[in-house]
Amino acid sequence: MKNGFFLITGTSKGIGEAVAQKILQEGHTVLGISRNRSDLLTSPNYHHLSIDLTDTSRFNQILEQTNKIVEGQPFDFLCLINNASATEPMGPIEACPPEAIEAHVKIGLVAPMLLTSLFIKRFQDEKVRKKVVFISSGAALHPLADMSVYCGSKAGSLMFGKVIGAEQKDKEYGFEVVSIGPGMVETGMQQAVRSKSDVDFAMSGYFRQAYEEGKVQEPELVAEKIFTILQNTYEQGQYVSVSEI
Ligand SMILES: NC(=O)c1ccc[n+]([C@@H]2O[C@H](COP(=O)([O-])OP(=O)(O)OC[C@H]3O[C@@H](n4cnc5c(N)ncnc54)[C@H](OP(=O)(O)O)[C@@H]3O)[C@@H](O)[C@H]2O)c1
Repeated sequence: MKNGFFLITGTSKGIGEAVAQKILQEGHTVLGISRNRSDLLTSPNYHHLSIDLTDTSRFNQILEQTNKIVEGQPFDFLCLINNASATEPMGPIEACPPEAIEAHVKIGLVAPMLLTSLFIKRFQDEKVRKKVVFISSGAALHPLADMSVYCGSKAGSLMFGKVIGAEQKDKEYGFEVVSIGPGMVETGMQQAVRSKSDVDFAMSGYFRQAYEEGKVQEPELVAEKIFTILQNTYEQGQYVSVSEI
């Protein structure tokens, strides 16, 4: 990979911002999507669209901006990174507000499905290496009490990625598909789960203990490892944990 184009959701902070920064430092081009804009991502190769991913009516603007960036450019790697996620709602499902459940699933599952469809349709005929990535979680694999909506979205996107991987497997210049488990990373999301009371969130003590024991990694270190995973090749739809790198 010498000259990649990366469409990344959730680049205003946390893992998405750190991954975008790493990719830009390596000389590639990024189009980031989030409601807010990062102050850190100042490279001329960084493009941003302030879009709320619950507003799917604006996804045509993502395609338009992508077309503007890639037109006439000799990109040798085309990659979508579905990274954005909400944390709320947490708590027993009967206490979760319906609108928060709906918004969460739109961000964590519907938007990745729509963007994957859009990205594959746009680039299916390009004869270069192509990849669709899901920033996943152990929550896709293990049930966590009071995180049913998060676990459900993550498990859904993991299976979605496996199926897309199966669809692409035998194609010439098919899209590689990988889901990446970042482990515990010191971001707003991690701070949010730690700050909940034990009454509101059954797992908050677990996350506080992990933090006190130094098990929560810095985003920049995790971004380095994610960048390595992006360059590697895996079985289609595989779940790859950052801790393996
Ligand atoms: N941190 C961890 O320990 C951990 C562990 C396992 C998995 N993960 C996964 O890693 C990914 C990144 O998490 P993080 O910890 O970096 O979270 P974070 O710091 O809270 O960042 C979340 C990103 O998603 C964006 N986002 C949220 N709602 C959005 C919306 N409605 N429209 C557009 N963008 C939206 C945010 O941007 P705006 O608010 O500006 O819109 C932000 O850029 C997530 O998929 C998460 O599930 C994290």
